[in-house]
Amino acid sequence: MQLVPINVQNKDFEKLMGIYNRAREQLVFQFETLKQALEEYCKYDVIDHITSRIKSPESIIGKMQKKNLDINYKNLIENINDISGIRIICTFKDDIKRVKELIKRIPNIEILNEKDFINKPKKSGYSAYHLIVEIPMKYEGQDIYVKSEIQICTMAMNFWATAEHKIKYKTKGKLSKIDSKKMEVYAKIINKNTIARPIAPAFKLVEIACSPSCAPTTLERSSSSSRDREPIRIVEARIDASS
Ligand code: GTP
Ligand code: MG
Repeated sequence: MQLVPINVQNKDFEKLMGIYNRAREQLVFQFETLKQALEEYCKYDVIDHITSRIKSPESIIGKMQKKNLDINYKNLIENINDISGIRIICTFKDDIKRVKELIKRIPNIEILNEKDFINKPKKSGYSAYHLIVEIPMKYEGQDIYVKSEIQICTMAMNFWATAEHKIKYKTKGKLSKIDSKKMEVYAKIINKNTIARPIAPAFKLVEIACSPSCAPTTLERSSSSSRDREPIRIVEARIDASS
């Protein structure tokens, strides 16, 4: 295979970012639908809100350099998994695992990798559940698979991560020893949070998919399999948080 070097000013790069952006849009759409279904079913905001972003060209190149990768498209596609990034922010900590289990059951989403920074927070204190996923899409008549990173956390964890990211950015990636220690302590308090969610029915959601008829027009082409034709359905099947 010819290894094409990346030029972020080039139309090819823009096109590739467009594909990641469509994947991001499709996943956000599916998770917004899941959010609504959960809200109706459980009578509270299981998912408080969803944010997403496409990684900037500078961060992509920076990350490739950090990983000592040659700056070509093959390396980018194979090694940079968070170009499309989605954060699902839950109200309660014990809903994170349930939401994760539900995502695993969405037919067009394949889980490539998962990291549990809830039970095992990072040294910095960072806490969230990470999934690297792949979804099928159509591109110029071809079936392609596009990766995204999904982070699932609580509002408190999101607040911590956003604040820490900003402080780090301001201080060019290095927190002072005292600030690192403080952030670790705050993270521990947040992660310990044992506030119970209100009494709500156990999640009973099994089939989740995007009906092409309710998907945004730009995404219509991407749901092709017949399994993808059901809208969100709530059926009887217990999802256990401990699984
Ligand atoms: P990279 O994405 O290459 O760093 O790969 P990785 O597999 O080491 O990433 P990891 O799964 O550890 O983290 C991915 C993402 O989680 C980052 O891009 C951040 O959004 C978030 N994250 C991880 N650690 C921290 C942290 O200490 N502080 C904050 N604020 N965010 C973090
Ligand atoms: Mg990342």
